[in-house]
Amino acid sequence: MAVNAAERTAMSRALELAARGPRGANPQVGAVILSSTGDVLAEGWHRGAGTPHAEVDALSKLAPGAAHGATAVVTLEPCNHTGRTGPCAVALIEAGVARVVYALDDPGAVSGGGAERLRAAGVEVESGEQADAAGALIEGWLTAQRLGRPHVTVKWAQSLDGRAAAADGSSQWITGPVARADVHRRRAEADAIAVGTGTVLADDPALTARDGDTLLPHQPVPVVIGTRSTPEDAAVHRHPHPPLFFDTHDLAAVMADLHGRGIQRLFVEGGPTLASAFLAAGLADQVLAYIAPVLLGGERLALTDIGVPSIAAARRLTVDGWVPLGDDLLVVARPAEENESHNEGAA
Ligand SMILES: NC(=O)c1ccc[n+]([C@@H]2O[C@H](COP(=O)([O-])OP(=O)(O)OC[C@H]3O[C@@H](n4cnc5c(N)ncnc54)[C@H](OP(=O)(O)O)[C@@H]3O)[C@@H](O)[C@H]2O)c1
Repeated sequence: MAVNAAERTAMSRALELAARGPRGANPQVGAVILSSTGDVLAEGWHRGAGTPHAEVDALSKLAPGAAHGATAVVTLEPCNHTGRTGPCAVALIEAGVARVVYALDDPGAVSGGGAERLRAAGVEVESGEQADAAGALIEGWLTAQRLGRPHVTVKWAQSLDGRAAAADGSSQWITGPVARADVHRRRAEADAIAVGTGTVLADDPALTARDGDTLLPHQPVPVVIGTRSTPEDAAVHRHPHPPLFFDTHDLAAVMADLHGRGIQRLFVEGGPTLASAFLAAGLADQVLAYIAPVLLGGERLALTDIGVPSIAAARRLTVDGWVPLGDDLLVVARPAEENESHNEGAA
């Protein structure tokens, strides 16, 4: 049976409910339970790891037996595994739900398979209703699931001649106010922002996302990577979130830790050593290079060794945008796929 108007409305509502949940290790999911005549019986959403899933939250608001013959409308395929909570597919079957309409298939190898389990128990199942909207809502989570780590943006600001700082190490401000505002807006879209100890010691950055002097509503968690210690009076200690310090150069370990904390998007702000280490390790999904019309010369290159011994091993990028920002230019790029062509021609 095709999805009906009441179910479609319920899915829109379930998406609104889902958005109330926190972005984190678990996806944001919403659920609405409808009676056989299409009336809303209960609503629920997931409030984060360790709390009931959306379907169970909605069912918990109903008297025993009240969901018998009902339809559950859920933004993600009901899960099929026992984690900190039991499988939602089983909870729905036990509640006597007759029909389930969901938006997105669960991509998890462990948690997926809920639809099959429901069908095997005689529950009618429809999938794909408003799948695009559901996918957009949990895009960061889906990406982190696919990568098995946070999505990483490596950002730097450089002079036209490719320097990240002047000879004495000073680098504030290479770019102008429009470019800096763009950086702050993008910081606010990330879950965490990482720098190396070199940047903390040289620049004492606050690592907050700001509009002028005002903090933006969403603040990324500050992350400092490296073995040297951060001074007690460093600005990062005054960040709204307690900073995470990683006394290591092992970026894979850092990524695993952040993934476990539900960090889906990491913004790496350098400096050159850390940015290069992320690129060398193949851990950069997006590159943002802010290029300013200024010349600095000298030794302080925007990138150091990224493991390219000769031109054949050059890291080719696919450009997603050349964005003019005041007098500066932002290049938004990502690693080119192996088989993507590059500029070839006679030398
Ligand atoms: N233009 C820009 O966009 C920009 C941005 C930020 C900074 N800067 C400038 O960059 C300069 C600082 O450069 P930097 O390269 O020293 O800064 P950095 O990349 O922030 O810090 C480098 C330090 O990070 C630690 N580290 C952590 N993981 C590492 C790994 N996998 N491999 C190697 N080292 C790792 C090491 O310190 P330990 O010895 O403590 O382990 C290393 O010395 C300053 O002049 C600053 O103003 C420019």
